[in-house]
Amino acid sequence: MASSVVVVGAQWGDEGKGKVVDLVAEHADVVVRYAGGPNAGHTLVVGDQKVILRLVPSGILQPHTLCLMGEGMVIDPLVLVAEIAALEAKGISARGRLLLSPRAHVILPHHVVIDGLRESGAGAKAIGTTKRGIGPAYEDKAGRRGVRVLDLVDPALLRPRVEAQLAAWEPTAKALGGELPSLIVVLESVRAAAEVLAGLVGDTSERLDSELRRGKRALLEGAQGTLLDLDHGTYPYVTSSSAVAGGACTGAGIGPSRIGRVLGITKAYATRVGAGPFPTELHDATGETIRTNGGEFGSVTGRPRRTGWIDLPALRFAARVNGVDGWAVTKLDVLTGLPVVRVCTEYETASGLTRNLPADDLASVKPVFRDLEGWQESLGGARSLAELPANARALLALIEAETEVPIDLVSVGPKRDETIIVRPAFA
Ligand code: GDP
Ligand code: IMO
Ligand code: MG
Repeated sequence: MASSVVVVGAQWGDEGKGKVVDLVAEHADVVVRYAGGPNAGHTLVVGDQKVILRLVPSGILQPHTLCLMGEGMVIDPLVLVAEIAALEAKGISARGRLLLSPRAHVILPHHVVIDGLRESGAGAKAIGTTKRGIGPAYEDKAGRRGVRVLDLVDPALLRPRVEAQLAAWEPTAKALGGELPSLIVVLESVRAAAEVLAGLVGDTSERLDSELRRGKRALLEGAQGTLLDLDHGTYPYVTSSSAVAGGACTGAGIGPSRIGRVLGITKAYATRVGAGPFPTELHDATGETIRTNGGEFGSVTGRPRRTGWIDLPALRFAARVNGVDGWAVTKLDVLTGLPVVRVCTEYETASGLTRNLPADDLASVKPVFRDLEGWQESLGGARSLAELPANARALLALIEAETEVPIDLVSVGPKRDETIIVRPAFA
């Protein structure tokens, strides 16, 4: 029985995880964010309301759900408190429904400073990070000098830990020609937020386990995407956390036997924000059309997203490393009006054709495309596959056949109801 479902991005992030989680959360009791931090921007559109969530799980707009923030996350207390306040201003209460793991790590002002200094000093070698302090905070976690939520909310624990972090980062800041905030400034800047968050701290892993034991349904919400994953992504152009479905276990504090189904999210095309290889990238008017029609501008940084055609070697890879049981294909409507829709089926490499994603030379592969005829009809009103134009159905059939993964859901617009459900997530 699929009592817990992982929703994981299969590309380079921004696949539409927020929309899908919000929608599926109608049938869930618990929603858990398991990775990343405020580098994420998950967009939910309900009626005329658009909400962009960066830390709070995308189940918060369904009033019945319990929302957990797991130990795999890095939390910026200032961003979280502002996000909760913004939700409350919209009439969405997080009180009593949002629980924060004491084991999650904390992003502090010096992490943001270091991320910014590194990026601006790196020139052509920049990763193109979101400059939200993600990398430095996860580095402190791996370096065993991290500040956890349980330290944040206890001034006696916080002070020596921040002191140790500042000492560790000092030489880096100096080498980059920058300056770190002082101990007092760091402590003062998070004091009020820590007081607010203290009321939200609780054992999220224990709570999730007990809900599952009571037969409740959980959605585990990924952030970023498979190709940005620290282990499996296009290293070093990746984020610093476990974005893949396996990260849901470590990041939410449950074992693999508790995962019932993995839903992989992919756009009907591809996008990427920041630097790094992108084999099917378009540098022409078609790429611009997709960017405009798809509103492909970063929800966190506002940067224009790079656009390109759907990449099946990348999706086969995502299907494998995540164990994807079904796809949610989003933004199919964005391709309406294009005369031809291209699909990359394999790569040409120095050693011949391959259907797989190579570990090393992704920047030098040449995509091999199959061209499908486009369609002119707008798709926003379609509620079943049969209502889609035949050429759009042909694209979906090709994705299914080439990845050997069935399509569970097709999204034809940003709103909740602009969706075709082929197979319910909790079947
Ligand atoms: P996430 O990070 O994976 O949650 O995705 P983002 O929210 O960053 O980016 C996805 C964007 O596409 C958001 O602006 C959504 O409102 C929008 N969106 C999601 N699904 C669809 C869809 O099927 N069609 C269209 N046109 N927009 C969509
Ligand atoms: P969601 O959850 C798209 C990218 C950044 C950069 C790289 C490393 O909305 O899908 P980081 O700040 O994490 O150190 O940046 O990862 N990136 C994302 N791209 N969507 C995201 O999140 C992203 N989070 C990080 O652009 O290339
Ligand atoms: Mg996003």
